[in-house]
Amino acid sequence: MEYLMVLVISSSIKFATSVLSNDVPQAPVPIPKEKLLVLTVATEETDGFLRFMRSADYFNYTVKVLGMGEVWKGGDVGRSIGGGQKVRLLKNAMEALADQEDLVVLSVDSYDLIFAGGPEEILRKFQQANHKVLFAAEGLVWPDKQLADKYPLVRTGKRYLNSGGIIGYAPYINRIVSQWNLHDNDDDQLFYTKIYLDPLQRESLNMTLDHKCQIFQNLNGAVDEVLLKFGTDRVRVRNTAYDSLPVVVHGNGNTKMYLNYLANYVPNAWNYEHGCSHCDDDVVDFSQLKVGYPNVLVGVFIEQPTPFLPEFFQRLLTLDYPKDKLKLFVHNNEVYHEKHIQRFWEENKNVLNSFKVVGPEENLSQGEARNMAMDLCRQDATCDYYFSIDSDVMLTNRQTLKLLIEQNRKIIGPLVTRHGKLWSNFWGALSLDGYYARSEDYVDIVQRKRVGVWNIPYMAHVYLVKGSALRNELKERNYFVLEKLDPDMALCRNARDMTSHREKDSPSPESFHMLRPPKGVFMYITNRHEFGRLISTANYNISHYNNDLWQIFENPVDWKEKYIHSNYTRIFTDNYLEQPCPDVFWFAVFSEKACDELVEEMEHYGSWSGGKHQDKRIAGGYETVPTDDIHMKQIGFEKEWLHFIREFISPVTLKVFSGYYTKGYALMNFVVKYTPERQAYLRPHHDSSTFTINIALNNKGIDFQGGGCRFHRYNCSIESPRKGWSFMHPGRLTHLHEGLPTTGGTRYIAVSFIDP
Ligand SMILES: *[C@@H]1O[C@H](CO)[C@@H](O)[C@H](O)[C@H]1NC(C)=O
Ligand SMILES: *[C@@H]1O[C@H](CO)[C@@H](O)[C@H](O)[C@H]1NC(C)=O
Ligand SMILES: *[C@@H]1O[C@H](CO)[C@@H](O)[C@H](O)[C@H]1NC(C)=O
Ligand SMILES: *[C@@H]1O[C@H](CO)[C@@H](O)[C@H](O)[C@H]1NC(C)=O
Ligand SMILES: *[C@@H]1O[C@H](CO)[C@@H](O)[C@H](O)[C@H]1NC(C)=O
Ligand SMILES: *[C@@H]1O[C@H](CO)[C@@H](O)[C@H](O)[C@H]1NC(C)=O
Repeated sequence: MEYLMVLVISSSIKFATSVLSNDVPQAPVPIPKEKLLVLTVATEETDGFLRFMRSADYFNYTVKVLGMGEVWKGGDVGRSIGGGQKVRLLKNAMEALADQEDLVVLSVDSYDLIFAGGPEEILRKFQQANHKVLFAAEGLVWPDKQLADKYPLVRTGKRYLNSGGIIGYAPYINRIVSQWNLHDNDDDQLFYTKIYLDPLQRESLNMTLDHKCQIFQNLNGAVDEVLLKFGTDRVRVRNTAYDSLPVVVHGNGNTKMYLNYLANYVPNAWNYEHGCSHCDDDVVDFSQLKVGYPNVLVGVFIEQPTPFLPEFFQRLLTLDYPKDKLKLFVHNNEVYHEKHIQRFWEENKNVLNSFKVVGPEENLSQGEARNMAMDLCRQDATCDYYFSIDSDVMLTNRQTLKLLIEQNRKIIGPLVTRHGKLWSNFWGALSLDGYYARSEDYVDIVQRKRVGVWNIPYMAHVYLVKGSALRNELKERNYFVLEKLDPDMALCRNARDMTSHREKDSPSPESFHMLRPPKGVFMYITNRHEFGRLISTANYNISHYNNDLWQIFENPVDWKEKYIHSNYTRIFTDNYLEQPCPDVFWFAVFSEKACDELVEEMEHYGSWSGGKHQDKRIAGGYETVPTDDIHMKQIGFEKEWLHFIREFISPVTLKVFSGYYTKGYALMNFVVKYTPERQAYLRPHHDSSTFTINIALNNKGIDFQGGGCRFHRYNCSIESPRKGWSFMHPGRLTHLHEGLPTTGGTRYIAVSFIDP
């Protein structure tokens, strides 16, 4: 309490004296921005370096790059000792600048660093620090932990030196680096640390650390302190611990991925007002391609039974891309799918440039297969791109391949998501243990509330890689990491999923092959367009004949696309339905495929009832008006069929019998077969239903002759049923009806007695 009083008094005295003497501290004359020179060491133009330069150019920094083209000898500067080469190059460069007393030199790393503010701001903050040399600071001591105690104490702020950022007057910087006489692989940070910890040098060189991240933000150990701060033109990083807006943001240590996330925004990459500002930089212009479209090797991976595989191949084929520029490699791990591939191959073997299939008999692991496909492109100098796609990716955008190539990145994937879920093909962040974590922007990217091209740490399922990158940065086969979680880890993760929302938006456990960018290469995902969706391969039972019919619950969008008539929705939009007899409505509901597959399924099952009165399948065991049929229940399709009725028949019922809300409930759901040889017609009868649907499953005149339906009360017959179209009519009292004789061939209909 006393202490506090003293403080208050002393500060008020100070205030009083300065008012009395009118001695308001004058702001120093600002250093002109031309007096700032940025020096950085880079031996290669990595993606990180180019990003650094883009941020420097944006603020008009004057940058001198040292060492470009030199072989890097500074060791592995992840978290091991090294970096001496940087000091040597800086020492050489400073010799020529040593006598420029008013020159301010900013020496920074460049592979993992960006600018968030401009030269004026740095110089102003440097002047406020009131020292000749200012080093970046961090909360972790490195590389020699034993030196921790030798550091001056700080009350708030980071205590330890980081050499990734140094700013100071040229003569002073020179006096520091001229002391260097070590090897290229010796540690630069240790060198600077020793000088700083020497009290005499610290004073004579007038050195201090940027304890409160006014200029330098090292992210290592500080990820939780920083947030994005969106402005109208610029995005900054805000340090919430010191309430500062650092100008230099450094992804040191293990925080490269986090820097990548920040740099998706900072300084002007994306903001709410203008969206993505670099998305159209350096794009490939197809209209300007002199040599024609690039050659693409498409690698297709069928690693588990996958619904809608024929449709998957069809979508590949309908990509808007010259087929003679496409080579196809297929790894099929499933005997079940051999028939689908065979059919696709027979139809398209001459369409594509080449077509290679590695089947289940090769017993290749998923990882080996993926490496093999990538090698095919890597070892073929004419292969411009490698496009990898798993069989559970439904590309609905025919332009996908072109759009990805246009974007001109080494590795880029299109965003695909599970319909109606937050589940996608990328991870926005990694936890410290290297597994899935949700980034702050994950949901916005998945839902396309933020649209752009995003640098991300992991992806799977579908991506495009430049052939040139495979032959350079990614030339070592195992350098291009294909991660596979071991079963234990997967188990742990599943366990965690039970209690959190992770499972909903992390890639599916069955697809643990994920792509991680190799060192120095950025990996992007684009959500600038809708590209398609991920289907679910879980619960895919392949014990039936046409197994996709059963997918109405698991993959409703694809089910609808495959099995529902393409004019079905027009019932509601432009009254696309007919009324051939009073209160008999007629509308398109099934696609050709739905009809064919349902008939195939029944014939595959084969136990037709024979049209007998005795029927063990129904309550009471006696049918007064028997048909030659198979019940949906017999093929295990009852649940799916009732769902179909609720989803696709109920809305029609409500439209034509307005005010009647069907429960969509039916006990009798079956496919009837009429042939002159067995049962050709059905005598007049009522149905035990509130209303009945009757869907024609094949074509009059082609598959059968005769047939049709007659309603007695109205003396009205419909003699030309249409495949895929359904009748809907009341079952009792008014609509006594009969099945007209089939005179040749075989006629199939699907019938349900709804709301009995
Ligand atoms: C950089 O220089 C250009 C050209 O002189 C100018 O238009 C631009 O506004 C400057 N940018 C900044 C951030 O000062
Ligand atoms: C460091 O330099 C500043 C001017 O740049 C000066 O005001 C200050 O007194 C110096 N500090 C020491 C400890 O020499
Ligand atoms: C297939 O490979 C696995 C693992 O490599 C091995 O255990 C298995 O015996 C192989 N099966 C055949 C049929 O070669
Ligand atoms: C797959 O379907 C068959 C036939 O309906 C059934 O006997 C089997 O239990 C199902 N398998 C699974 C894993 O659900
Ligand atoms: C849908 O309706 C249009 C116009 O009536 C017709 O041309 C088209 O063939 C119909 N589609 C199908 C699959 O029957
Ligand atoms: C039923 O209609 C047919 C022709 O449409 C006609 O020839 C016949 O006389 C009608 N029968 C009755 C009972 O109205």
